[in-house]
Amino acid sequence: MEEKIVINGGKPLKGEVTISGNKNSAVAILPATLLAGSPCTIENLPDINDIRVMQDMLTALGAKVDFHDNTMTIDPRKVNSYKPPLELARKMRASYYLMGVLLGLFGKAEVAYPGGCDIGARPVDQHIKGFRALGCEIKTGHGCYLCSAKQLRGSEIYLDMPSVGATINVILAAVKAEGMTSIVNAAKEPHVVDLANFLNAMGAKIKGAGTDIIRITGVKHLHGCTYSILSDQIETGTWMAIAAGTGGDITIRNCVPFHMEAVSAKMMEMGYTVQEGEDYLRVIGIPRAKAVQIKTLPYPGFPTDLQQPFMALLSTARGTSMVIETIFEGRFRHVEYLRRMGAQIRVEDRVAVIEGTEALWGVPVTATDLRAGAALVIAGLMAEGTTIISNVKYIDRGYECLVDKLQKLGADIQRIEE
Ligand code: EPZ
Repeated sequence: MEEKIVINGGKPLKGEVTISGNKNSAVAILPATLLAGSPCTIENLPDINDIRVMQDMLTALGAKVDFHDNTMTIDPRKVNSYKPPLELARKMRASYYLMGVLLGLFGKAEVAYPGGCDIGARPVDQHIKGFRALGCEIKTGHGCYLCSAKQLRGSEIYLDMPSVGATINVILAAVKAEGMTSIVNAAKEPHVVDLANFLNAMGAKIKGAGTDIIRITGVKHLHGCTYSILSDQIETGTWMAIAAGTGGDITIRNCVPFHMEAVSAKMMEMGYTVQEGEDYLRVIGIPRAKAVQIKTLPYPGFPTDLQQPFMALLSTARGTSMVIETIFEGRFRHVEYLRRMGAQIRVEDRVAVIEGTEALWGVPVTATDLRAGAALVIAGLMAEGTTIISNVKYIDRGYECLVDKLQKLGADIQRIEE
């Protein structure tokens, strides 16, 4: 039996929605809890598939884990393995954060090549460069990275690009290394800062998170703590696009407007209204936006994870838009399906040119990755007629109760079993 999402589009959505915890924070912070010498309690976790997979991996390594009501308690004191189960590790990209953590714990790690959304080659050479600089030996065999290090020693690491994953993984390996580690050309995403704040609450010594240079002074021990993670920047942007695309009026609560500045600015350029509060945003849509250019960049630029949802909006904009995807070379797989819905899009390498059409129409489509799925939900909410989305498992990886949240705002959307 396959679950699908069925949407009868064309309705403006009005009301309020509350943003869940940040998926990309959670998948970094949860492995980090194993570095503590006592239990941690992590609050405001989104209840999504990636978190369930991470829970299973921590349990398989020997941790005692309890997860309910968006709160997870992890007691790492009985962790006794440096080999996360292959079949779990292959389910998600963030499993590679266990490399940094298990190196910090055991000086060893055997982790499968990571899974994750098919949006490009997604190499991990910068992670490996960082681990080797810390004194780690890394070999590959049977689809795994075999890492070992007698003693991790601090070093200066210059990243070739501000990789989020590499920045996080090096931080995780460096917090208990001997001496000082500097990460130059570090990623500045909000979830990198969230991880650093969590580790510092455990007794780590990390300075400069959120800037180009992060300095970590290794410590011998880290202690457990209670920590509430950041709200999800990408879910916030997805809801901004939903409000805009349906010509609705939605107040998005429990978000961080400061993290959305590049997105809010672009939306106002498109003709939408964006009102900012302390911890909420109100977005008022219009039937057809003004065509614009969107270029994805590392934070604080326009997030690559919102490129796909925003291409749905541009499909009916007035005029010709351009989307330049500078981060991932394979992040246009949603275009095929937007075209089936009537969008006029031409793709040349990392550039998509979109001729805005009057309207989209509902047809059967398939989600090819998490944010492509979000783009198809938005397109379905905008379209005339019925859109049927397959492969909804991708959407469930990153959005908590998306269908329920949409129904509460008046959307004609259902999950069906076929
Ligand atoms: C993280 O992926 C996120 N995933 C992605 O979100 C997000 O799109 C991406 O950061 C950029 O913001 C998680 O946090 C789990 P990168 P990551 O390392 O860490 C290249 C979602 O939808 N690169 O910053 O894999 C890489 O190929 C997901 O929630 C190397 O060449 O992203 C890419 O072109 C999708 N070598 C660019 O850098 C490396 O060693 C940015 O990748 C590492 C990365």
